[in-house]
Amino acid sequence: MTGFRPTAFEGLYGRNHRVCSTPNAPHRFILSTTRRVDLNEQQQLCDDVGWSRLPIERVRLALENSLMVVGLWLHDPHQPRLVGFARCIGDGVIEAIVCDVAVHPNYQGIGLGKQLMTYVLDALRSQQVNRVTLFADPDVVEFYSAQGWELEPQQRRCAYWHED
Ligand SMILES: CC(C)(COP(=O)(O)OP(=O)(O)OC[C@H]1O[C@@H](n2cnc3c(N)ncnc32)[C@H](O)[C@@H]1OP(=O)(O)O)[C@@H](O)C(=O)NCCC(=O)NCCS
Repeated sequence: MTGFRPTAFEGLYGRNHRVCSTPNAPHRFILSTTRRVDLNEQQQLCDDVGWSRLPIERVRLALENSLMVVGLWLHDPHQPRLVGFARCIGDGVIEAIVCDVAVHPNYQGIGLGKQLMTYVLDALRSQQVNRVTLFADPDVVEFYSAQGWELEPQQRRCAYWHED
């Protein structure tokens, strides 16, 4: 019996989970803000997309202090695997910033990143947060603009400070 019963995922991913639409993929992918993101898996995902690591304790606190942490899971009934991630920081009322959007290279290009962003925005809307900002890497700007994100006009209003 291979019937498709989304509610069967509730125990693993929480009530607010969303099953991704990936018609030609052999796996199921699930988005959730409820299922806890394992720090080591999150760090591995950062490695896999080529990001440099931060001290794990700082990452733990950053996740704890985030407004929202979204995991994208490769479904397995016994051991779901984290294959995508995003988080938001903000006041939970008006403003939010989306950070650390990533999909594992093995699963890029099948629409998961786009669904991850839709899920993030829907979750923010459900909190009535309607001013959302993100800072895109130059080679990813098109990914966001194709989804309706507006580019900051003429780069005149954005300030960015980052000490390495
Ligand atoms: C950027 C990223 C999240 C996209 O995820 P993905 O699952 O591959 O994206 P999708 O398959 O949902 O692609 C959706 C659309 O965006 C396009 N797209 C994907 N990556 C893109 C990129 N880097 N630049 C421009 N367009 C891109 C796809 O071609 C697709 O177009 P279509 O709707 O016309 O078919 C993923 O490539 C990633 O994790 N990259 C490494 C980490 C990173 O750079 N994160 C962003 C930091 S700002």
